[in-house]
Amino acid sequence: MNDTESAAGVTGCPYLADYQPMSPQELNDPNPTYAWARENAPVFYSDVSHTPGKGIWSIARNEDVLAALRDTETFSNAGQRSPATPPESVRHRMPEYPWSTTVLTQDGAEHKESRRILQAPFTPRSVKALEGAVSAIMGRLARQTTHGHSMDFVSDIAFPLSLGTISETLGLPEDRFEDFKRWVSAAFAVIGNALTEESAIEQAIETVTEFYEFMVELVHDRIANPREDYLSAMVRSTADEDGDERTITLVRSVFTLIVAGFETTAQAMSLGLWQLLSHPEQWQMLLRDRSLVPGAVEEMLRHRSMIQRLFRTTTRDVEVTGVVIPKGSLVTLLIASSNRDNLAYPDADTFDIHRRHNTHLAFGKGAHFCVGAPLAKLEAKLMLQAMLDTYPTLRLADDFRPEFFPDIRMAILRRLPLTWD
Ligand code: HEM
Repeated sequence: MNDTESAAGVTGCPYLADYQPMSPQELNDPNPTYAWARENAPVFYSDVSHTPGKGIWSIARNEDVLAALRDTETFSNAGQRSPATPPESVRHRMPEYPWSTTVLTQDGAEHKESRRILQAPFTPRSVKALEGAVSAIMGRLARQTTHGHSMDFVSDIAFPLSLGTISETLGLPEDRFEDFKRWVSAAFAVIGNALTEESAIEQAIETVTEFYEFMVELVHDRIANPREDYLSAMVRSTADEDGDERTITLVRSVFTLIVAGFETTAQAMSLGLWQLLSHPEQWQMLLRDRSLVPGAVEEMLRHRSMIQRLFRTTTRDVEVTGVVIPKGSLVTLLIASSNRDNLAYPDADTFDIHRRHNTHLAFGKGAHFCVGAPLAKLEAKLMLQAMLDTYPTLRLADDFRPEFFPDIRMAILRRLPLTWD
């Protein structure tokens, strides 16, 4: 690892010239680099980020990540905005991209107001009330796969469970599931500038426009015919707005919940189950004692964090563990590294479903703490219980070699092949 002292304009900060977070080696197992950084360069600079031409400062230790998450005045979310205005050709159908203003890219009072609307439906009672519906979806999925002796957990269980749950909360029609997958993946492609060919970009924008029109229709329907779902609760919490402004606020909120809650939960369950099944003795403990399930879920979230890093922009020069990060810098808070910090979690590399005081940062902390955390945990708990009940002999397929999609923010497993007797 190269830790020379200077990069373009950066002094007093270890410079990791050869750090490539999206190399196959780092995607497969970023933990050796994170462990090295926590020990030798808890704040480091490297050239690669998701913004071409812009390097990043990374913060690796739990204590520093936590402090940055809490200091939203210095570590701003607002610098993370994606392009807001769609091309002229579709603007009469979609006046703004649905991601142009979301809680994830706002600070201060503006953020508080958007978050109030999103949080309105997430009461402990409403999440508890979903238990029956989520359990029924999971039961159906688990039974569907029992005919053989193998499955791909990612596509057979995790994605349909996550999509089914979001759909249940927002009252989305089941017959549009295939459209949803298409819409969400087009939105990610446009947000992430993942496409290069002009025709592919045009096609993706057309698909996002369809998605937008669907959400407008859904919002109008719920304003006219409120129900007992999360979208109707958000409709009630925007009663002081009207007309187009209200529609746009609600479309942004629906979009945020779908995008923040769909792939995250599916992947967190997949990564977590992989970790658990890599420790078959702990699977056996769960088979004997289901009261261990909630602790197992927390450990599955901590040990291999789905969110690898969160991006922030500094609003002033700030010192972190002796390194001054200049104002206007792009900073990543290495959530996955902070979850493996021995100073915060004794023997942090060990997967242990009995771990106590498991205050991991998988859902962030502070003002932007994950709105959907109770729902994600409910899903993971019901998934695990159903897998234990239906597949007591479940194990990783012999030929399983973890492979990840190239993504700088999240760990995204391509497949999780499982087998049973
Ligand atoms: C295991 C699955 C999940 C993980 C690991 C996860 C992780 C996170 C993290 C780390 C943040 C903080 C972002 C930041 O500080 O910039 C966050 C925020 C958020 N999450 Fe989740 N999430 C999950 C599931 C969900 C679900 C199911 C929903 C909704 C249905 C959801 C909705 C949100 C929203 C709306 C925010 C933004 C909150 C804000 O900026 O104030 N998440 N999530």
